[in-house]
Amino acid sequence: MKRIAVFASGEGSNFEAIATACACGDIPAELVLMVCDKPGAGVIARAERFGVPSLVFSAKDYASKAEYEQRIVALLDEAKVDLVCLAGYMRIVGDTLLGAYGGRIINIHPSLLPAFRGARAVEQAIEYGVKVFGITIHWVDASLDGGRIIAQRAFEYDGNDAEEVHRIGQRIEHKLYVETIKKLL
Ligand code: GAR
Repeated sequence: MKRIAVFASGEGSNFEAIATACACGDIPAELVLMVCDKPGAGVIARAERFGVPSLVFSAKDYASKAEYEQRIVALLDEAKVDLVCLAGYMRIVGDTLLGAYGGRIINIHPSLLPAFRGARAVEQAIEYGVKVFGITIHWVDASLDGGRIIAQRAFEYDGNDAEEVHRIGQRIEHKLYVETIKKLL
């Protein structure tokens, strides 16, 4: 049985989709760790509900990115994690984590990459006036949302309601992330 970790900073709806799929055997893996950099984020209660051990930290409590990433790597090693899934983890992965787990980290991003990298991707796409939106899952490397693409899904939307695009996109994300993790494992 493979062992996966999910990193998140927000609500954790993708965490929940992955945790549910692991719990019911749809993803043949054990979800062994949740890492969150935002004390108070919704994902923390979800991890508790699923009985998934978590590391919650504040970057400001550490002298450097290398220092908190060393702590993360130690926990990933201890939990013998095979695959790290970033799910709304709003932090750039640094050299320490990439050095130890590069090639084993994937990310989900709410745009059709390489368009609209970085934060507020949906808002960027609306401001640009696109009519086709989408979701990308990619390998994480040292670039910003630039690693090799694993899966993408597009949808049409003609309007400027970012919340509606997020709602449509997240329904797609939950399915696509589970399908992609299954394929990779
Ligand atoms: C997801 O929509 C994900 O695509 C996005 O954060 C959201 C987290 O939602 N990620 C990024 O924007 C990464 N640049 P969740 O906490 O409900 O899973």
